[in-house]
Amino acid sequence: KRTGYEAWLRYEAAQYGIVREAYASQCSAISALGSSKVLVTAVQELAEAVGAITGQQPKIAAPPERLSSGVLIGVKGMLDPELERLTADDTAQIGDEGYLLRTLPGAAGEADRIAVVGGSEAGALYGVFHLIRLMQQGEPINALRVVEQPANGLRMINQWDNMDGSIERGYAGKSIFYREGKFTEDFERVRDYARLLASVGINAIAINNVNVHRVETKLITEAFESELKKAADVFGAYGIRIFLSVNFASPIAVGGLTTADPLDSSVRSWWADRAAVLYRAIPEFGGFLVKADSEFRPGPFTYGRDHADGANMLAEALAPHGGIVIWRCFVYNCLQDWRDRRTDRAKAAYDHFTPLDGNFADNVILQIKNGPMDFQVREPVSPLFGGLSRTNQMLELQITQEYTGQQKHVCYLVPLWKEVLDFDTHAAGEGSTIAKIASGAVHNRPLGGIAAVSNIGDDDCWTGHPLAQANLYGYGRLTWNPALPAEQITKEWIRRTLGGDPSVGEVVEDILHRSWGIYESYTSPLGVGWMVNPGHHYGPNVDGYEYSKWGTYHFADCHGIGVDRTIGTGTGYAAQYHSPWRETYNSAELCPDELLLFFHHVPYTHALKSGKTVIQHIYDTHFAGAEEALELLESWQTLEGKLENGYFRLAAARLREQSEHAKEWRDVINTYFYRKSGIADAYGRLIY
Ligand code: GCU
Repeated sequence: KRTGYEAWLRYEAAQYGIVREAYASQCSAISALGSSKVLVTAVQELAEAVGAITGQQPKIAAPPERLSSGVLIGVKGMLDPELERLTADDTAQIGDEGYLLRTLPGAAGEADRIAVVGGSEAGALYGVFHLIRLMQQGEPINALRVVEQPANGLRMINQWDNMDGSIERGYAGKSIFYREGKFTEDFERVRDYARLLASVGINAIAINNVNVHRVETKLITEAFESELKKAADVFGAYGIRIFLSVNFASPIAVGGLTTADPLDSSVRSWWADRAAVLYRAIPEFGGFLVKADSEFRPGPFTYGRDHADGANMLAEALAPHGGIVIWRCFVYNCLQDWRDRRTDRAKAAYDHFTPLDGNFADNVILQIKNGPMDFQVREPVSPLFGGLSRTNQMLELQITQEYTGQQKHVCYLVPLWKEVLDFDTHAAGEGSTIAKIASGAVHNRPLGGIAAVSNIGDDDCWTGHPLAQANLYGYGRLTWNPALPAEQITKEWIRRTLGGDPSVGEVVEDILHRSWGIYESYTSPLGVGWMVNPGHHYGPNVDGYEYSKWGTYHFADCHGIGVDRTIGTGTGYAAQYHSPWRETYNSAELCPDELLLFFHHVPYTHALKSGKTVIQHIYDTHFAGAEEALELLESWQTLEGKLENGYFRLAAARLREQSEHAKEWRDVINTYFYRKSGIADAYGRLIY
């Protein structure tokens, strides 16, 4: 048995006690009202869960046969008249992918039945996973009346997997998809991944890195057609559509053309042909994900065209087949000169894309990273979300912990994502939150959603650090319902993954909920970011990027630190926000402490709202952060004997590394700022 492999789909009989008997009788039989492949999956999943949880295998009816008791699984509009009538008031509230769970009284002398009705087959599958979630948590299922509808149309995962088996920014082993330039032969693990994703409501996946290298460029050619079909089938059985990241220069790289100019007719017809071939093989194909004119990737700029020209050209190719183009907004000048204090990477996405608002085809979605820089421990939200109203938008998050400890450190990201989702841009008045802009609700857009870079690899536990599974879980739950409280998500994940022992639950919940703050405190003070080793981004290096060509600065010198992004004297970035954020961020007095150095260059003696000076804040948080990292390890150690031993030791080893590494962070950062500023620590602690 592989440690942590089952993740949150871990079905343990012993812990359910008395409810177990109830589940066994309530789910003694399962009937599917239809035989499509996703419904077959739903039946299998439920049967497996019920069997493992109750110790009794449910009877399964072969459609069209229907058992008079147990669980009925079907799709609205395709039920029998009696069931349609009984559930009509609830089914009226669900659209595609929504579902209802409902206890229906049995006929005289017969037991109650449970109806799981989806707005689509996938909806029915999500309903089944809801039922399983209830059982894993020991909840009663005898009087169900649940109606659920996902907030986001696209709930997507981006794999940054390369076909040589490596994963860009992957910290959990190698790709589960590829080896040595080919797809893996064994799709078993891919299937297990699909299950995990569907169980939290994910419905789309881009299966290759956004940086599309040579071999991967051929993924859209016939060369990989049969493997792609296989992958699409495996995911399709779980209601998940596959997408491909494409190379904008494909017409040249694999098409034998001399140009990739989006307005060239031979280029347009080449892409249209490619799309037609792909859809002939995979009718359920989702579409393309594109990183263009970004970090040396080819794009429309080469031909003097803009991003709307580029995206619309691909959109035109995909539209006849119902496909979509997801176009990334991570576009900036990565060689910005430090002498030029008006140019600012943070401003780039907004400057590139807001002038194009309204120019994109209806089947294009702009995918925007949560912050204006790059998944730092702390950033303001990207102002681009507030800058577009006639364009489909999608939020991009990073589950893989590139800048947040690389799955060696525990850093639970759900609280960070909640802050992003709940942020009110004021774009269309109060209540224009990122969650509602991304879903399309604020501007009534036809498409929208959330995507995130996956954190999994072929490690036994999927995520390197077993506690990092909580990030994948929480991400999925938030894409379904961004309003879910972080605490609820955490409790669910713990209960499903680690069982119901409350003494375990309390410890793990505390570790997870403190982890982001702790990581922030010993790494990156006051929103400054980027004090990591260039390239791999692990470990402290205050000036690593400062004196490199990459154009990411904190401007620390002997007087002060921070980037002046104000309207009057700085880069003017603060002006990209709506009021009141523009004024708030523009003012060193109003700006929240945690983002002060993102927006302002201040002397080390500047007094924060907390009452401390900037320099004392840096010292205090770094001393405290390293201590707290040790506390995380110590509190985990109290769980010895209460968890499966391999799991316990795996996390313990990572927490030990974290606490050692936190000391290194503390010392490197404190020493740097002590020597730069010449200001001593008020408490006389050891600074080298
Ligand atoms: C970051 C990351 C890269 C990645 C890029 C992107 O810069 O370090 O590895 O390719 O983001 O999102 O495209």
